[in-house]
Amino acid sequence: MIDSLPKAELHLHIEGTLEPELMFSLAERNQISLPYKSVDEVKKAYQFSNLQSFLDIYYAGAQVLQTEQDFYDLTWAYLERCKKDNVVHTEIFFDPQTHTDRGVQFGIVFEGIDAALQDGRKQLGISSHIIMCFLRHLSAEAALDTFEISKPWHQRMVGVGLDSSELGHPPEKFTEVFDKARQAGLKTVAHAGEEGPADYIWGALNELKVFRVDHGVRCLEDESLVQYLVENKIPLTVCPLSNIKLCVFSRMSEHNLKQMLDKGLCVTVNSDDPSYFGGYINDNFHAAQQGLGLDNQTIYQLMRNSFNASFLEDVHRSEYL
Ligand code: ADE
Ligand code: ZN
Repeated sequence: MIDSLPKAELHLHIEGTLEPELMFSLAERNQISLPYKSVDEVKKAYQFSNLQSFLDIYYAGAQVLQTEQDFYDLTWAYLERCKKDNVVHTEIFFDPQTHTDRGVQFGIVFEGIDAALQDGRKQLGISSHIIMCFLRHLSAEAALDTFEISKPWHQRMVGVGLDSSELGHPPEKFTEVFDKARQAGLKTVAHAGEEGPADYIWGALNELKVFRVDHGVRCLEDESLVQYLVENKIPLTVCPLSNIKLCVFSRMSEHNLKQMLDKGLCVTVNSDDPSYFGGYINDNFHAAQQGLGLDNQTIYQLMRNSFNASFLEDVHRSEYL
């Protein structure tokens, strides 16, 4: 049932789909030396103790992405995986600052990703949106600069997001740039309550006016927050395998996804950084189903949630509901 049902993916960092094999071939193509001797050695390095230990390796891996063709190839490989997993709509994050800070121009990144997404629409029938994320470990000024240079591409993105090291970087650090993004007609989402406290989820809602919360698993620590999220139908894009790999929960049977659903929250299942966390969206569904004993009705609800929580226009959304 999981594999055959159409689904939308709403929490996916395109840089996090960089498989070790592609990392090696891009390193060779761009004559970059990697600190690993083999694909197996890369895979062995993917042992994380928290979010930061992952991010250090993830940003290092992204260095192999240099040309528009590299970003095209990365995105196309993900879309082929989508086809296999019956993902019919995807809303992908990209982190421009990871690339512009090392001299790769914004347009190289965006055009490469977008060209693949356009081909995905035509050749694979997969619809998509792009969400530009600001790196929260960098300054608010750096986010504003990125927002300025990205202006020529705003029409071609659906929204902005916030990711990277959460603790010590609360959402309100980015109120100004999110205000500007909304004024420009962009929707807003933010990672909150992954490692950070429930207060950061309030910050994302009140200051950044997000439509969705990415992760948000720590919301259960605040009953009034849960009530607010339920009443306002704010979706939470949960990433089960990511949460286990980054030690947010020690094992899948301890994940709070089922409790979140039982409270009436609009939860969706997503893969976050599938190359690093050991699985794409269907793997996440299977792992959650097995670990938490989810029945078919719950799986079906999660699929429906993925379309309801998406930025699809209603005419397209209704095709899947
Ligand atoms: N960037 C890529 N994956 C992330 C995650 N799970 N949390 C925060 N930033 C990220
Ligand atoms: Zn994420």
